[in-house]
Amino acid sequence: MLDNLRLVADARRALLDEGVSPFGTVVEKVISATEGILDGRRTILAGTNNYLGLTFDPACIEAACAALRTQGTGTTGSRMANGTFETHTALERELAAFFGRRDAIVFSTGYLANLGMLSALTGRDDVILIDADCHASIYDGCRLGSAEVIRFRHNNVEDLDIRLKRLGERSTRALIVVEGVYSMLGDRAPLLAIADLKQRYGAYLLVDEAHSFGVLGAHGRGLAEEAGVEAEVDFVVGTFSKSLGTIGGFSASNHPELESVRYASRPYLFTASPSPAIVASARAALTVLQARPELRKRLWDNAHHLYGRLRELGFSLGPEPNPIVAVMMKSPEEGLAAWRALLKQGVYVNLIVPPAAPNGGCLLRCSVGAAHTSEQIAHIAGAFASLSAASPY
Ligand SMILES: Cc1ncc(COP(=O)(O)O)c(C=O)c1O
Repeated sequence: MLDNLRLVADARRALLDEGVSPFGTVVEKVISATEGILDGRRTILAGTNNYLGLTFDPACIEAACAALRTQGTGTTGSRMANGTFETHTALERELAAFFGRRDAIVFSTGYLANLGMLSALTGRDDVILIDADCHASIYDGCRLGSAEVIRFRHNNVEDLDIRLKRLGERSTRALIVVEGVYSMLGDRAPLLAIADLKQRYGAYLLVDEAHSFGVLGAHGRGLAEEAGVEAEVDFVVGTFSKSLGTIGGFSASNHPELESVRYASRPYLFTASPSPAIVASARAALTVLQARPELRKRLWDNAHHLYGRLRELGFSLGPEPNPIVAVMMKSPEEGLAAWRALLKQGVYVNLIVPPAAPNGGCLLRCSVGAAHTSEQIAHIAGAFASLSAASPY
């Protein structure tokens, strides 16, 4: 009893001294979508997932305020028991229409969407093939269900092919699970090749577009849209906590069985539904996402700007330009020192250490959004430049 937590405390003490902690850093005051007061200092937020910068969008705020006033602060019930208001079903219709799917289902978070979908879609005789770098919610969704789980090497189509071949006829009971953009390194799944394998082996495909919804594709529908393989994707999963700037999760699909997920999915059944204000801001954000494609352009300009500058400075980065810019560190100690030096210069990024960092590495995860100004991006790059001058990373 409690041994596990003592081990966690020991590991934390080994890395952290008395200085500011990178884990659970408190934003003492929120100033805007891109700035806050941290450790008493005005700081650029360069680690959020606020890709379209919508957390302070006037339309989203107004929609949330109006819903608060007319529908109250919460539903106090699950989607199954008094927690489905007309606004939840309207959001589901809007998501289904946006993704061009028959139906959509809204969960309370993206984490719960993965838990709810993976555990309900598959049974004892099925197999889930997941990319090794998948998010914790995908791993946890597998654990909640009863299917056999097989990991394949990150973004390695040959490895996936071998594993599907080994399944023989069972491949038609296999669900391949990948992410559009991986949350730590910002790299994309090779979705065209994966969709081809899925078709050849008669398997199913679920794509978690958490970091690509609103970011990729001509209409912002994600990597599947960008890669032209939406027809091969059986289930889209996503979250409202990134591009939509609020909280909640969803899945959209053409399979009529999606409706039964509502009755079979414990993470849908046994938790309170999103509050009306949350749903209202998600709906407003989905409208803004479609009405203002220039936000996506601005996001990508910022992404290219930061990635290009950090590469010029000689940092070792994730494999491709993306709003998530991962800067590799040699060790957690070096990462912590760099993280603190950046904070002193008014730049907050995420310090990622094992097991969250892939391959046992350590990285500073920066992310940019449409709301960052060119001056802010230049300031972030300048802070990294002074790091590289002090110590060649
Ligand atoms: C790939 C992926 N899926 C799901 C989630 C969970 O989303 P939420 O924050 O809505 O729970 C995240 C969150 O970071 C994620 O990166």
